Amino acid sequence: MIEFPAEPYRIKSIERIRQIPRSERERLIREAKFNIFKIRAEDIYLDFLTDSGTSAMSDNQWAGLLTGDESYAGCRNYYRFEETIRSITGFKHIIPAHQGRAAEHLMFSTLIKPGDKIPSNSHFDTTRANIEYAGAEAVDLVIEEGKDPSASHPFKGNIDTDRLEDFIKKNGPGQIPFGMLTITNNSGGGQPVSLENIKKTSEILHSHRIPLILDACRYAENCYFIKQREKGQSDRSVRDIAGVVFSYADGCTMSAKKDGLANIGGFIGTNDDNLHEKLTNAMILVEGFRTYGGLAGRDLEAVARGLEEALDEAYLSHRINQVKSFGELLLEAGIPIVVPTGGHAVFVDAASLLPDFRREHYPGWALSVALYREGGIRACEIGGIVFGKKGEDGREVFPPLELVRLAIPRRVYTESHFRYAASIFKRITENKSMVRGLKITYEPEYLRHFTVEFKEL
Ligand code: F0G
Repeated sequence: MIEFPAEPYRIKSIERIRQIPRSERERLIREAKFNIFKIRAEDIYLDFLTDSGTSAMSDNQWAGLLTGDESYAGCRNYYRFEETIRSITGFKHIIPAHQGRAAEHLMFSTLIKPGDKIPSNSHFDTTRANIEYAGAEAVDLVIEEGKDPSASHPFKGNIDTDRLEDFIKKNGPGQIPFGMLTITNNSGGGQPVSLENIKKTSEILHSHRIPLILDACRYAENCYFIKQREKGQSDRSVRDIAGVVFSYADGCTMSAKKDGLANIGGFIGTNDDNLHEKLTNAMILVEGFRTYGGLAGRDLEAVARGLEEALDEAYLSHRINQVKSFGELLLEAGIPIVVPTGGHAVFVDAASLLPDFRREHYPGWALSVALYREGGIRACEIGGIVFGKKGEDGREVFPPLELVRLAIPRRVYTESHFRYAASIFKRITENKSMVRGLKITYEPEYLRHFTVEFKEL
């Protein structure tokens, strides 16, 4: 019997969810042209689409909303927000943004020139899209183990530092305005990056005068893994580890919709005065004045309080172990997953689950359609649709991994929800003909997964 950790909180307020009949789900998925982003959330029973913006806020955060100061400039919640983030990250300048990709867009459109190349362990899709939109190339240099779902390594999110050095030598630092690390590495299975790897990356980049920018959405979960898994770190608090992690970087972009435990929000941190000035001027055009950055005062307060709560180690231990136990349930049901489980999600290895399925028929996406049809569950493919691209000859170039991500909203679901989800997976593995191939009938130019349409083969 797989044990789930007990919650370090109790439920004060609930939100009703309902399971609609299978025939209704069948009709809705067809109407949505097999794109699960187009299904209404009300028609979903368990929503594992994302851990972003889906956290349950605490009573403390809800209470904070009432203290929102909605003055246009200099609201008190901004100063609280700034102080909290500065105390965690140590960055000199803190710039609010309404979410992660707004921070990325601002930062990248200011720092990147066409033809540049930006190395990272793995770029997330919005990061990649914003880099490409600025005319640069987003380059992934994750270690080999990070590309193998079954390889065991405590820090599968690490960047390959030898390849990073070669990459800088080959391209020259003039073409590399900054390097990045995504902590944890979402696209590679929510895998953490070690403190040692962050330090080494920082040293390599800095020896060429290239700044290091962290994509810090899930930094608290990453720091918890460092405490658990890295030699010499177990006696430090997660907060102290976070301080060291950020000290190796020159700046960060952050979506507070993850480890900010908020439903909206984000920020940029930087030590660079010149960059700070450019960013705060640029943001007036799109996000607003520098003390609110597209957020209401109350949202700034919810983020400030959420960031503190996300560093609570009782919370982090429950969070990481809940994800781990769900992974064990799926393994027990015979589902291949990326091991060890990462911070925010369980990633099912759709390629191994469906070995006879052709990549051109999008096995990961097809599995997510089957999960909705059979169980009212929403999950997100991280494979051929999200990362696939048309090559120069017009044929699709597929990414190495074909995964389906079950992202776990923070503080939302309980053990019985996870047991239900595992039972649906078991039903699908026992009858794999439930998973049917797909053919694209429409796709847009960027971030195609949000609006792509299919017909079933
Ligand atoms: N970076 C990473 C690593 C992310 O996972 C995300 C969002 C972003 C940047 C962008 O932040 O959504 O606030 O604009 N990830 C969500 C997800 C969407 O489902 O993984 P955002």
